[in-house]
Amino acid sequence: MNSKVEELRARFQSEMNAVRDAEGLEKLRVAFLGKKGFITDVMKTMRDMDENDRKEMGRYMNEFKAQVTQELAEQGKKLQARLEEEKLKNDVRYDISLPCESPLGTLHPITIVQRELEEIFSSMGFAVEDYAEVVTEYDNFEAVNVPKHHPARDMQDTYYLDNGELLKTQTSAAQNFILRKYGAPCRAIFPGRCFRNEDVDASHETTFFQMEGMMVDTDISISNLIYFMKTMLSEVFKKDITVRLRPGFFPFTEPGFELDIQCPFCGGKGCATCKHGGWIELCPCGMIHPNVLRMGGIDPEKYTGFAFGLGLTRLAMMKFGISDIRYLNSGSLKALDQFKTL
Ligand code: DAH
Repeated sequence: MNSKVEELRARFQSEMNAVRDAEGLEKLRVAFLGKKGFITDVMKTMRDMDENDRKEMGRYMNEFKAQVTQELAEQGKKLQARLEEEKLKNDVRYDISLPCESPLGTLHPITIVQRELEEIFSSMGFAVEDYAEVVTEYDNFEAVNVPKHHPARDMQDTYYLDNGELLKTQTSAAQNFILRKYGAPCRAIFPGRCFRNEDVDASHETTFFQMEGMMVDTDISISNLIYFMKTMLSEVFKKDITVRLRPGFFPFTEPGFELDIQCPFCGGKGCATCKHGGWIELCPCGMIHPNVLRMGGIDPEKYTGFAFGLGLTRLAMMKFGISDIRYLNSGSLKALDQFKTL
């Protein structure tokens, strides 16, 4: 009786050794454990045995069945693991032997300052807008009160394209678009990249960033301008900032100002950052010229507003103590990798 089971066991072992894949394994399972398999066949013959033999045979067969079931399961797992290993080996998309640590990138210092300003202005109810870098002459000049042949055009040495359009020289190029989009009242800032033909040195670049802002409503005055500028700059420098206005000329403002801040680094005593003057010229601004409002479809008799053109590049350099503007466009990770703020 036992020899019958031993015979089956030997057969199972030799067939199991020959199994190479999941399909072979399944065939083996059906041959031994299936409804018409060897084990069922033997079980059927047990009916005719006398009681003692049947019990003994039953015990052998149960043991054997358990052994077959377990070995089939183990072999199944082994085959699956081998399959996955093969798959990984043949997968050319990645190499599992390479070290997996790659350094994370960092934000550009200008992006850091820009995002900070966007957050500050958003919290004061300003919309954040974007505008094209290639603009029309109308956008860049006429719409901000600089007609053709006006000498103020000479202040900005401009890159013209063959089709008569130009790389925007100032974010003010979007003023008309903003006024038309929002009408009055409106509060918006619009950061952007600007381009001018410059002799490049430590503080001049052909490509730089500004952040323009506008607020239009009834009864807007210079006090509103001072309030918003002071609040924004105090947030940026994380301390109370003293500002002052000096007269400045911009064709799109009336009156126009240069806004200076008392040096946040030395408190006005004089240091290298403020070139020992105690004050830093930071933000040209002014009350929006009635012509600009009119060209934007807004009635200057009813509404007034202020605008400013903050030098984002300058502000980032000052905030992070970057001494040479050329680092900013250099793509040098050695220089730019250091600003991990945020
Ligand atoms: N667009 C001017 C420039 O690039 C800066 C400026 C001055 C913007 C006064 C303004 C402003 O909005 O009111 O030099």
